[in-house]
Amino acid sequence: MEFSIKNGKAEKLHNDCVIVGVYEGEKLSDSASAIDQASSGYLSEIIKRGDMDGKVGTSLLLHKVPGIKSERVLLVGLGKEREFKESDYRQVVGVAVKSLAKIGASDVACFLPELQVKKKPVDWKVIQLVQVANDMVYRFDQMKGKKVKEGKAPKQGIKSLEIQVSSKDDIKPAEAALKYGMALSSGVKLAKDLGNLPPNICTPTYLAEQALELKQTYGLQVEVLEREELQKLGMGSFLGVAQGSVQPPKFIIIQHNKGKKGQKPVVLVGKGITFDTGGISLKPGAEMDEMKYDMCGAASVLGALKVVAEMDLPLNVVGIVPTCENMPDGNAIRPGDVLTSMSGQTIEVLNTDAEGRLILCDALTYAERFNPLAVIDIATLTGACVIALGNHASGLFSNKDALAKSLLQAGEDAFDRAWHMPLWEDYQSQLDSNFADMANIGGRAAGSITAACFLSRFAKKYEWAHLDIAGTAWKSGKEKGSTGRPVPLLTAFLVQLAKK
Ligand code: BES
Ligand code: MN
Ligand code: ZN
Repeated sequence: MEFSIKNGKAEKLHNDCVIVGVYEGEKLSDSASAIDQASSGYLSEIIKRGDMDGKVGTSLLLHKVPGIKSERVLLVGLGKEREFKESDYRQVVGVAVKSLAKIGASDVACFLPELQVKKKPVDWKVIQLVQVANDMVYRFDQMKGKKVKEGKAPKQGIKSLEIQVSSKDDIKPAEAALKYGMALSSGVKLAKDLGNLPPNICTPTYLAEQALELKQTYGLQVEVLEREELQKLGMGSFLGVAQGSVQPPKFIIIQHNKGKKGQKPVVLVGKGITFDTGGISLKPGAEMDEMKYDMCGAASVLGALKVVAEMDLPLNVVGIVPTCENMPDGNAIRPGDVLTSMSGQTIEVLNTDAEGRLILCDALTYAERFNPLAVIDIATLTGACVIALGNHASGLFSNKDALAKSLLQAGEDAFDRAWHMPLWEDYQSQLDSNFADMANIGGRAAGSITAACFLSRFAKKYEWAHLDIAGTAWKSGKEKGSTGRPVPLLTAFLVQLAKK
């Protein structure tokens, strides 16, 4: 789908379709009203007849509206005008794009950015529109057979989407927002594709190759450390998890160095378990396929770096991805094993399924060498986080309130929200071990908090935040698929930082 920014009049265009909104209570949006006038009240008549009640989620496609040169007008319901909020805007954009997916309208003008959305500026409306539209048309069919793919090649659907803004002054910010939206969409797509790929293809080696691809395309600095080098670094915890798999572990380091000289970098660390069986503490079989998504933290780091590179943000950003498989095997770690992490702290493995923290802790220690401004790790870390927050918010933990605040704000702005969870000292004792410096699990209570507590012990030397994306990185059930979250949050955070 191609996008462009335009400032036209809905009633004067010659498009295949014009999208305008209708509120509940027979209230037309500005452009709908202009079309209504040009067509001598055609829309009002339809609404009076009761064919469009303006409820959110509804739409009505009209053909050959009198007095209008565009072939079709799509009315989308907006709900009550005074209650129209961010989530409604996203929903109606989605409904509009979806309603046009299976018809022959390819050249479409969308007037939804004229709507008032809780005082959001035009850039926000454009970024969200581009994202929702790209989300709507996203398909993962790489793994479908050749015949099926060819048969499904879409001949219909929107090819060119004109994003119509309501004043000339809006054109410039909207054009900048369109660039942002496109860069963001490309990072989200990368994160989704990597997440959705099957675990027999998306291995640690594959992720390393994808990082090298980013080097090829954008000139990012990329380094991949192999097992021998990791042994030399003393990453006993990461290597412990990796030792049960025939797939060799990889430790990926990606750098975007476009900040001022001497500027401290933001370090993003992503959990890259390409498949989590649980190891010897084997997971139950139901839905285990979804553990291919256990590398979504890694995917979001690669996605965010792609966005940063595409936008050429004047920042120093480092991505670190420890990646391996968690498999049961004759050589796998056992419950009771004690591992020595790169930090020197020892860990009693009481459950081999709590492997994410075991690979992240060594990456957090490795991050020290960058003298970071802040370190943010992103991980599908705990099922407990899904119990606590469901699929709407990522769990946010931090040792610095100001950093937490910026990330929460970024999540709000991007509509990719997180919720601040406690990291109080009180929880730390749940990790006490009789045999090592700490255990890798803290019991059933507060599972996502004790996981964060574990990580915090390796993040003492810098400002750090942890995003538990177990509930937000992918959808289950009929709509099973990766969401690309939290690439939008991370992008908003980094863009904000670049402005400072
Ligand atoms: N990758 C899982 C977390 C997970 C589970 C995310 C289900 C999304 C859905 C992680 O490695 C894990 O297995 N965590 C355990 C920790 C427990 C053993 C303390 C969990 O959450 O059950
Ligand atoms: Mn696990
Ligand atoms: Zn896991």
